[in-house]
Amino acid sequence: VVASVLELGGVKIAKEDVVRDDPTNNVPDSIFTKLGMQLHRRDHHPIGILKNAIYSYFDATYSNKFDKFDNLCPIVSVKQNFDDVLVPEDHVSRSYNDTYYVDSHTVLRCHTSAHQAELLRKGHTHFLVTGDVYRRDSIDSTHYPVFHQMEGFRVFNPEDWEPSGMDDTSYAAEDLKKCLEGLARHLFGAVEMRWIDTYFPFTNPSFELEIYFQEKWLEVLGCGVTEQEILRRNGRTNNVAWAFGLGLERLAMVLFDIPDIRLFWTTDERFTSQFSKGQLGVKFKSFSKYPPCYKDVSFWINGSFTENNLCEVVRGIAGDLVEELNAEQDMARNLECKRPGADQVECGVEMSCAGVGKPTLRPPSL
Ligand code: PHE
Repeated sequence: VVASVLELGGVKIAKEDVVRDDPTNNVPDSIFTKLGMQLHRRDHHPIGILKNAIYSYFDATYSNKFDKFDNLCPIVSVKQNFDDVLVPEDHVSRSYNDTYYVDSHTVLRCHTSAHQAELLRKGHTHFLVTGDVYRRDSIDSTHYPVFHQMEGFRVFNPEDWEPSGMDDTSYAAEDLKKCLEGLARHLFGAVEMRWIDTYFPFTNPSFELEIYFQEKWLEVLGCGVTEQEILRRNGRTNNVAWAFGLGLERLAMVLFDIPDIRLFWTTDERFTSQFSKGQLGVKFKSFSKYPPCYKDVSFWINGSFTENNLCEVVRGIAGDLVEELNAEQDMARNLECKRPGADQVECGVEMSCAGVGKPTLRPPSL
């Protein structure tokens, strides 16, 4: 049963407030049901385990200086999501094709950067914001329209960079790279990584960090030195800052060997029971994408019967699709009442089928 009134970041929201028959609304039911799930706040879920591991790195490296937010409402204004972080008026990410609009002024946040400005205005200078983010996108093993991000933000004062003799931007960029390389080592151990120059409307310079994993370069985060305009508008004229946004599913897929992004949403115990609080990087063991299906089949065989012969016949037809096969001649004990003819023997075969070979993983519900 889907709750029709949700409490999100201390705000009560009714389903009708989010899903409406209104031309300026494009939020389907399937997305509404994800609001309030907050996988990142579950200590036994890979996304929550990863969040906590990143928290530990920041607490240890910066003596608990980073303020943490993981319960900010994902329904934000267009101003928060786009204007406040300088996303141009004609940027594709603003389109109804890319973003979920609740009405023409309100969206489901498409990144945790939507909270930068308000937190700066409230006086925070070191913060981490974790939350569910929403982007209209087609679904496959690495894309899902709801995922989780963690935003990091650090403000520097002139006393921080002046002694270095560096200019403020270079100082912040260098500190940012050191911080994130340290985080990558904390999570992955020794890994090969590389920085790629890129563009974001809210940072300059902007970078992406890629990690070499299973013979591929994998983009794990975007970051950069915050545009001065954002600091100026929010009461930090004489400061410089860096920001990053990392995709938690991407990192968790690598850390836990989770092959399909849809698995994060499954309630199948074969998934959920594999992870526990504080256990980073336990390797996921795959299971069939189909639920188990048990069948009892009875055979009546003329004359003599050997278990191996029967199993061979079944295997010859069904192959590895049959996970387990128990041919029990014992079952023939009650053949008195069942057997159709005096010279026939009954044997029972229990089969359970659980997918073929190495399954492609997809939770059954999706
Ligand atoms: N908000 C960016 C994204 O979602 C990531 C980012 C955050 C980049 C902060 C730079 C600074 O892709």
